[in-house]
Amino acid sequence: MNINWDAEKYTSDFSFVHQYGSGVAELIDAAAGSTVLDLGCGNGALSNVLHDKGYLVTGLDASKELLEIARSAYPGLAFIQGDAAGFSLPEPVDVVFSNAVFHWIDRERQPDMLSCVHRALKKNGQFVFEFGGYGNNRLIHDALAEVFSEHGYAYKVPFYFPTIGEYAALLEHAGFRVRYAVLFDRPTELKGENGLKDWISMFLKTPFSVIKDEAERETVRDQAAEHLRSALCQGGKWYADYVRLRMKAIRL
Ligand code: BEZ
Repeated sequence: MNINWDAEKYTSDFSFVHQYGSGVAELIDAAAGSTVLDLGCGNGALSNVLHDKGYLVTGLDASKELLEIARSAYPGLAFIQGDAAGFSLPEPVDVVFSNAVFHWIDRERQPDMLSCVHRALKKNGQFVFEFGGYGNNRLIHDALAEVFSEHGYAYKVPFYFPTIGEYAALLEHAGFRVRYAVLFDRPTELKGENGLKDWISMFLKTPFSVIKDEAERETVRDQAAEHLRSALCQGGKWYADYVRLRMKAIRL
């Protein structure tokens, strides 16, 4: 994944990530007692939602720090460390679930991730997921590209935000049948009067690494937030222009 998590801050200030994830979990159609892998489980909050629905859940994440939080918050659940594009399970599961993870995985590594998921699922198993889709955070990235350029830097979006058509093709190529797909806007309220700047600091560490001076990084964040104020700040509240790609596919 293209990030080193600030695990505590992520859990305290960005809880909307898992709160919104409960909607995608409703696409799972499996009996209580079914086995579910929560791929990229982070702090385990959604693994626990799945556990409360009666599933036997295993959470997998690459981040030791987030897994520590997950294990201490939900000691009754199983969590394992692993790379989403390079893992294997001892036994195949009925369902693989994932929320807000796949945009962190480069396009080139998506086929590896999808083969891992295929191997991890039983035949006819369900693959249910949501992540950032085509156009996600476009206003934010466009504003940052403009401010970076004014400062003499190139801005590179460090995420993969595919269309339905592109991702359906990858799934079909990897041995899945697509059953459901929707791409929808989900403006997302950010916490606090510096909500957008805090979001940029939390999630956009990679593109900012080309700017060596912290004071200049702060100026760039300020200027980008000012560019975006009329579009993304209403009544003193900041919103991020999220677009979600939500899909369900069956392993052939
Ligand atoms: C997302 O969930 O879409 C997302 C979160 C942080 C950075 C980029 C995308």
